[in-house]
Amino acid sequence: MKKPLVIGNWKMNLDYVEAIHLMQQIGVLLRNKPVEHTDLVVTPPFVDLRSVTSVVESDRIPVSVAAQHASQHESGAYTGETSVAMLQRLNVRWVLVGHSERRSYFQMTDDVVASTLRAVVRSGVQAVLCFGEELASREAGEHFDVVASQLQAALAGLDEQVRPLVTLAYEPVWAIGTGRTASVEQVAEMMDFIRATAASLSLDEPHVLYGGSVNADNAGAIMSEGRVDGFLVGGASLKAESFVAIAHASDDCYDGKR
Ligand code: 13P
Repeated sequence: MKKPLVIGNWKMNLDYVEAIHLMQQIGVLLRNKPVEHTDLVVTPPFVDLRSVTSVVESDRIPVSVAAQHASQHESGAYTGETSVAMLQRLNVRWVLVGHSERRSYFQMTDDVVASTLRAVVRSGVQAVLCFGEELASREAGEHFDVVASQLQAALAGLDEQVRPLVTLAYEPVWAIGTGRTASVEQVAEMMDFIRATAASLSLDEPHVLYGGSVNADNAGAIMSEGRVDGFLVGGASLKAESFVAIAHASDDCYDGKR
């Protein structure tokens, strides 16, 4: 089993004061009961990044910091956008690419996802490629086709040397923020499919995460029976206790080797 990875996606929640507070609380919980086998990442809103990286550094919290999005462009007249280089200067080590909320609310097409992914990994930053089917596709039995086409569009032709920087995150849209988690059987069969598809696209054994209504109660079963390498957590990452509890559930799975 790979070393698991648990990423908290704070989405558009918490101003910088609240973000500092949450990061400090996570730091205290991790000091009281360290997470030994799981890598942790938090993904605050852009305006919180500087404050959060400062707390992580000053309190030596064993957590990396990610951005929720980045521009596919390097610099220039792109009002409202943030470049990968600017994020790197803030010690941001990861970027989420193609989250379903970016795809559906901000018209992020497969082409833009592909060019953003390239902009991120070209700079040596770790990318979390997010993908997953909507409810209608699942009900029509088209979920494997949708996932294959999203992976193909983002990964085909990616330079060999940057491929190790890509982590995959399967997030079925119908499970995000709904409390309706995919069943462990649905997750397990999708994990097999994603690993086979990634291999056919020459992506060598990437971490494959699951996201969608993950919480401290369901994380252990999804990891052990769903055979995931970690989680992308939304709502439950906004409270230090539940985020760290998910990290400990992941640790326990690793200790028991699933
Ligand atoms: P929830 O955990 O709130 O369902 O969100 C999942 C998600 O979109 C993480 O990126």
